[in-house]
Amino acid sequence: MDFRVKAGSKLTGEVQLPGDKSISHRSIMCAALAEGTSVINGFLNGEDCLATLDAFSKMGVSIDKTDNKVVVQGVGLRGLKKPDSDLYLGNSGTSMRLMSGILAGQNFSTVLTGDRSLSARPMERVVTPLNLMGSNISTNLEGKPPIKIESSSGLNSLSYELPIASAQIKSCLMFAGLYANGPVTVTEHLRTRNHTELMFQEFGIEVEVNESSKARKITVIPPKSFLATDINVPADFSSASFFILAALITPESELLIKNVGINKTRIGFLHALRHMGANIELQNEINSLEPTADILVKTSDLKGISLNTALVANMIDEMPAFFIAAALAEGITKIKDVKELRAKESDRLQAMSEALESFGVKFHLNGDGIVINGLGKDGVFKASKISSHGDHRIAMASSIASLRAEGETTIIDCHNVNTSFPNFIDVCREVGINIAET
Ligand code: S3P
Repeated sequence: MDFRVKAGSKLTGEVQLPGDKSISHRSIMCAALAEGTSVINGFLNGEDCLATLDAFSKMGVSIDKTDNKVVVQGVGLRGLKKPDSDLYLGNSGTSMRLMSGILAGQNFSTVLTGDRSLSARPMERVVTPLNLMGSNISTNLEGKPPIKIESSSGLNSLSYELPIASAQIKSCLMFAGLYANGPVTVTEHLRTRNHTELMFQEFGIEVEVNESSKARKITVIPPKSFLATDINVPADFSSASFFILAALITPESELLIKNVGINKTRIGFLHALRHMGANIELQNEINSLEPTADILVKTSDLKGISLNTALVANMIDEMPAFFIAAALAEGITKIKDVKELRAKESDRLQAMSEALESFGVKFHLNGDGIVINGLGKDGVFKASKISSHGDHRIAMASSIASLRAEGETTIIDCHNVNTSFPNFIDVCREVGINIAET
């Protein structure tokens, strides 16, 4: 499926975006392992979260979904059943890495597989620490899926320093910690998204967090009980980032994005854009465990910045959108230490460089960073054909960038937008974007 986008007029109105992908995954995992019935509202019906849902159904969990409401009859920590076949997780790295932690603690074996993109992603980052806990897990010779998880008679406690700033590794080990014979402590030097910590608390699991200026230590105490609870999933800040970008770069726009998750560990993009001069206001803030707000965005003249590397982990999924903001800012934007972009659904540093090249933007790749020469507030991209590399976020960032291209831009291979944002096209049209799918 390709998208064709034409530059258009101002973007206005109010939009409600689909649920948060990270929180939706975790809500199914926790609800499945809890005892009793959990109701999840605002669940993201994207292919990735549906892969998680399907995998737990195949392990005997009764899950009933109507639109965005999911009712899960939790089976308890020891209640999962061996699936009849391998568990296919599509494009979803979060499903594979977090579920490895859960499945490492089961008394049955499983095999996790994925699509072409997922099968090319590094998995030794979760397998190595899980095996330190006494599990018996293997990948192919290159450290990639399929992941084979042998049945376990119990996991050991662990203290582990994350070698990579990754919420998926941290969360994998936190889930494994539910099955350990003692505490599991994960130390991170850069703060990554903390949805697992917050959701564990919501399900009554003891999580200790010790934070100093240098590190954050998260300890899971294996629970005696794990009780069902209801979860409200806010709209996904990462999906909102594309519409924040769209309103910022389209003249005379004013857009209100409703009820978006603004967890501090997720909104590096907002801080970076404000530093560039973006006019973004938070309204109706609600301070629940996962805080939310309405985000009001107005067209802004952006200026280039040197991106604070401490923000990178908190805007890792927003980087493709940030590259486009940088390409339309006045002056130079310097982005360093983004090696992890190379390990996403595609090599996003490479894929976005190719997109910038096609749009006629000057940039310089240096190792794991990039320097982008912004075209400025009146800059116009060259219309062209962009390859999304089958990556949902490259497809959406390039679609929005096309609003500032002359003529029509075609973005190739956009099917995977369905993994995180199934109604992207509808929302685009709702706010006035001229987009067609072929
Ligand atoms: C996620 C963590 C991030 C992010 C991914 C979702 C999560 O991955 O890129 O889309 O839900 O924990 P890493 O932990 O690999 O950075």
